[in-house]
Order: sequence, then structure tokens, then C-alpha cells
Amino acid sequence: MSATSKQSAMTADDIRARKGNQPIVSLTAYTTPMARLMDRHCDFVLVGDSLGMVLHGLPSTLGVTMEMMILHGQAVSRGLDHAMLVIDMPFGSYEEGPQQAFRNAARLMAETGAAAVKLEGGVEMAETIRFLVARGIPVMAHIGLTPQSVNTLGGYKVQGREEQGDLVLADAQAVADAGAFSVVLEKVPQRLADQITAEVSIPTIGIGASAGCDGQILVVDDMLGFFTAFKAKFVKRYADLGDSAEAAIAEYAAEVRAREFPAAEHVFGDQAPKQSTKK
Ligand code: KIV
Repeated sequence: MSATSKQSAMTADDIRARKGNQPIVSLTAYTTPMARLMDRHCDFVLVGDSLGMVLHGLPSTLGVTMEMMILHGQAVSRGLDHAMLVIDMPFGSYEEGPQQAFRNAARLMAETGAAAVKLEGGVEMAETIRFLVARGIPVMAHIGLTPQSVNTLGGYKVQGREEQGDLVLADAQAVADAGAFSVVLEKVPQRLADQITAEVSIPTIGIGASAGCDGQILVVDDMLGFFTAFKAKFVKRYADLGDSAEAAIAEYAAEVRAREFPAAEHVFGDQAPKQSTKK
């Protein structure tokens, strides 16, 4: 599939203009039906590489490929009219340098219709962000806990505690100076998130950060209670759909075993129903 001609209403400039204004609402999505449900309510929707863990059962996001991102990006794109579509660059698709990043970012946008890409990293990614933005690719940065670096961060720990906070602040300033239109702050202390939000010129999107950020994002399967392998402290479950789905599946299984399903209303007779003569 090539790029959808459809353009969602929200743009990177609209997101940038929300700095210090009405909070930006966002969620991840990986499928068309879920994207349709959130389109009216979200300002942007992220096809996150969290899909590797949430949908595909991978142990981390490191095994996510360009092909997986493109397939789910195309699905989400079909469900959006209002919210802006942002797509994650998967591990290994951008870290070599600006040219590699441009090639893969352009492919993601061309093949999914996404209006922007997100990539992980701060100071060390500034040159790449500047290169992409100068060539027409809006970039959302992601700093603090960057899950693609789980092996060098020593796990999914809070980032930027005490004197380490200056490093995260420097990351935020570097990606803003490089031209990113917004920055995700993941799992950083609330005080640091508030300081970054006050000091950088672009909107901060918090996840495990602070209600004072310019916007918030959650992984949709976490907040709906579909992903139950673990629950991070920063996740609020707004529903328990995983439990409801399992109860429904158990009821179906019991009815099949008892030959109660299908019932009379679910099967077809030999004769076609008579045509009604009434007008
Ligand atoms: O992959 C993802 O879902 C993300 C969000 C958690 C920000 O990067």
C-alpha cells in the first residue's frame, strides 16, 4: 500500500501550538477499530513500538521490525480522520545516522500516511532530528526512560533522579533546539517533568511524568485492562476489558461443551422464510 491520500485534521504545528495551553490527549493504537474509537477524543494517536510486547508477545520492543510498524500503521491510518497519526521508528532503523533515519522515516510515512515519526534519544539524536526536520519530516522525540535502550539502562527504571536530572533536561533542550515539535517524557520524577515543561519551548507529553506536562499518553491496552502481564505504577486502568473478554470466552466454551450454542436463533432452517405481502 502507498500513502493514504487522507490527511487527518490535526498537524504537528497544531500540537506545537498547544504548548502551555489546553492539554494534549493521546493514546497508542495498533488496529483500525481501536483507532476509530479514539479518533474523536485524541489529538494524536501513536502507533507505538509497544505493539511488540502488547500485541505480539515479545519480551521487549527490540524485536519490532519496519514491516510490523508499517502493517499496524496502515491499519491505524484507516481509522483516523481527526487525530494526527504519529509512528514510532523501531530499534535499529535510525541509530546509524541521519541518512538511515531519513530513508526509514520516509518509508514509514509514505507507506502508512503517518504525519510524523517518533524516535528515542536526546543529545545523541539531535543531529538526526535536525536532518529529518530540514527535509520535511516532523519529529516527536522520546527521552527519560527509552525502552529501546533497556539493556544499557539496566531495566525499566525511573530516569533523571537527583543529579541525573540535568542530563534529562539537557536531552529535552537538545531535541527542542534540533526542531522536534514535541517530546515524550517517560518515567521521570514529577519535579523534573515540571521543570522541563517550564523550560523547553516545545510541548511535553508525559507518561509516568507529571499532570503538569503539556499532554499525556498511555498505551491503550494498559488503560483498558487488556494487557495484564504487568501494570506499571503510572498506568491507570480505566476499564478491565481483559477480564470481561475472558469471562465471555469462558461462557462460550461452557455453552459449546453443553451443546447450548448455537441456539435456535443462530441456525438456518431448510425453507427460505416466506416473503411478507405487507407493504
Ligand atoms: O511505544 C510506545 O507505545 C511508546 C509510548 C509509551 C510513548 O513509546
